[in-house]
Amino acid sequence: MRRPLIAANWKMTKTIEETEEFINEFLPMVKDITDVDILIAPPFTALASASKLLKSSNVILAAQNVYLEENGAYTGEISPRMLLSAGCTSVIIGHSERREYFSESDEIVNKKIKLARANGLDVILCIGESLEQREANKTFDILGGQLEGSLKDLPLDGITVAYEPIWAIGTGKTATAEQANETHVFIREWLKKNKEGADAVRIQYGGSVKPDNVVSLMSQPEIDGALVGGASLKADSFAKLVVGAK
Ligand code: PGA
Repeated sequence: MRRPLIAANWKMTKTIEETEEFINEFLPMVKDITDVDILIAPPFTALASASKLLKSSNVILAAQNVYLEENGAYTGEISPRMLLSAGCTSVIIGHSERREYFSESDEIVNKKIKLARANGLDVILCIGESLEQREANKTFDILGGQLEGSLKDLPLDGITVAYEPIWAIGTGKTATAEQANETHVFIREWLKKNKEGADAVRIQYGGSVKPDNVVSLMSQPEIDGALVGGASLKADSFAKLVVGAK
């Protein structure tokens, strides 16, 4: 059995103060949860202070991105070692917003995952198709290509895959539980065919996950958790998602 992983991706919201406020409110709500892994990914600037508050809690701290070099003249970038020193144990890589707005190719994503893993960070690898690609029946081709490129020469340990159909992110349009599961089955089969240890890999769904649809999504056999944007920004809403994933 795979443990569910419910992850909050706060994107470019929350200052240090807002992050602290969230954590202080959220931790008591989930302190007795032992059968779900809980993760939050605040912006870079709030990581170090979040890490102090999360110490000895049951919540994992992740970054939303990382650079693909160890260090050097890369103005504005953040290395895996910096994330470790800020208290992160995990990092989200290849989110569709990074792919789209910051031109992250599968090759870049692959380099980032390799360096993050070499530094001992766990990784949530995001993949997903656009509406146009889904309507043209290209979903599986796109996802297969993203998996192939992003996971090139990489073992699966320490990696979670987040399937996030782009048309469902921030739009209020969730894939139906069956639609999501069918795609997760494809991803699992791809992993089994191409890698060792595919059965242990968690595949999260992301895209307008909310307290009122999390239970039906999580009841699907191949959905092992959720990567959540909008509904993770309020402590009580995110706590409901965690409880709904049990
Ligand atoms: P959403 O975002 O829950 O607001 O749709 C999900 C994500 O982008 O990870």
